Amino acid sequence: MDKKTNSIKLGDSLMIGGIRLKSNVLMAPLAGYTCFPFRLMAERLGAGSAYTEMVSSDGLKYDDRATSRLLYTDEREKLKCVQLLGSIPTVFERAAKSERLEKFDIIDINMGCPVPNVIKSGEGCALMDDIPRASRIIEACKRSGKVVSVKCRIGMNRQRIVIEEFARMCEVSGADMITVHGRTRDMMYDGEPLYDYIKLAKQSVSIPVIANGGINSREKAEEMMEKTGADGVMLARYGFENPLIFSELTGRKCSDTKLSLLMEQVEIAEGCYDELYVLTYIKKLTSYFMKKLPGSKKYKLDLYRCGSISELRIVLEEIFGSKADAESI
Ligand SMILES: Cc1cc2nc3c(=O)[nH]c(=O)nc-3n(C[C@H](O)[C@H](O)[C@H](O)COP(=O)(O)O)c2cc1C
Repeated sequence: MDKKTNSIKLGDSLMIGGIRLKSNVLMAPLAGYTCFPFRLMAERLGAGSAYTEMVSSDGLKYDDRATSRLLYTDEREKLKCVQLLGSIPTVFERAAKSERLEKFDIIDINMGCPVPNVIKSGEGCALMDDIPRASRIIEACKRSGKVVSVKCRIGMNRQRIVIEEFARMCEVSGADMITVHGRTRDMMYDGEPLYDYIKLAKQSVSIPVIANGGINSREKAEEMMEKTGADGVMLARYGFENPLIFSELTGRKCSDTKLSLLMEQVEIAEGCYDELYVLTYIKKLTSYFMKKLPGSKKYKLDLYRCGSISELRIVLEEIFGSKADAESI
């Protein structure tokens, strides 16, 4: 049943629940990567929304440093989106209504994580095999009054592709948007996404459907929109490797270079995290930024030897201040 024909283009704005996203090119949650400074950068470069790393819904009750770091946000982040992981509806409800999530505008529910420990606990993609429970979780989050989205895959494996029924359930349970990673759980992060099943999800519901998986260029993003009829796209690994892709896909002018972005990230990160965390994060981001840089092996050694933020700044200048950087962007 085709509920909606789509004339949405890449870079258009998008309404979800009562919230208007400035573009339909979204940055995915990436555990270990999408910290506050990164999300700010993605947003500034054009991403319509950017999510925290997945946060345990149960873990919110502990006042530990790791969770506080995951939840760090301030007024510079215009649209605040948190992603929760878990399996118990009442725990989700408590989390969604908790003071710790008060600042967040959108709650995304992780129903796509394929990692064995997560699956064993009945969380992440395991919820695609327990549709009644997944429904109760969405309803529980909706009782917070916030906008709620779901991020899922197309099923556990090719014999159990349930995306059509699952997408309908999400809509009926009150979800305001669904992001479909077009792979099954057993494909993990490899292989071509199965575009037809994302299309099936889109055709089954009236709420916005965002397509995710394997987008690493304008061509891929356009192909995804065309083949699925989705309302937008979500980038994950490539968005981290090259956040300038957000300005390219949304047609926003930007004069940033990788060096200027990294220097800005250092400054923002320094303002909210301890030195060890800043070093770890910036080293990770720089490694991704260097992927296509000639002779990056030598630079990587220098990078990983840095023991302070001031050393880090000098090494970043050495790596990206050269002609090689200008050519690689
Ligand atoms: C290192 C890593 C961490 C991830 N963390 C999360 C996460 O916290 N929450 C989530 O929903 N998906 C997570 N994902 C999945 C991505 O958001 C995305 O769905 C997947 O990588 C496919 O998109 P891509 O092909 O553009 O990378 C993660 C993926 C990777 C590789």
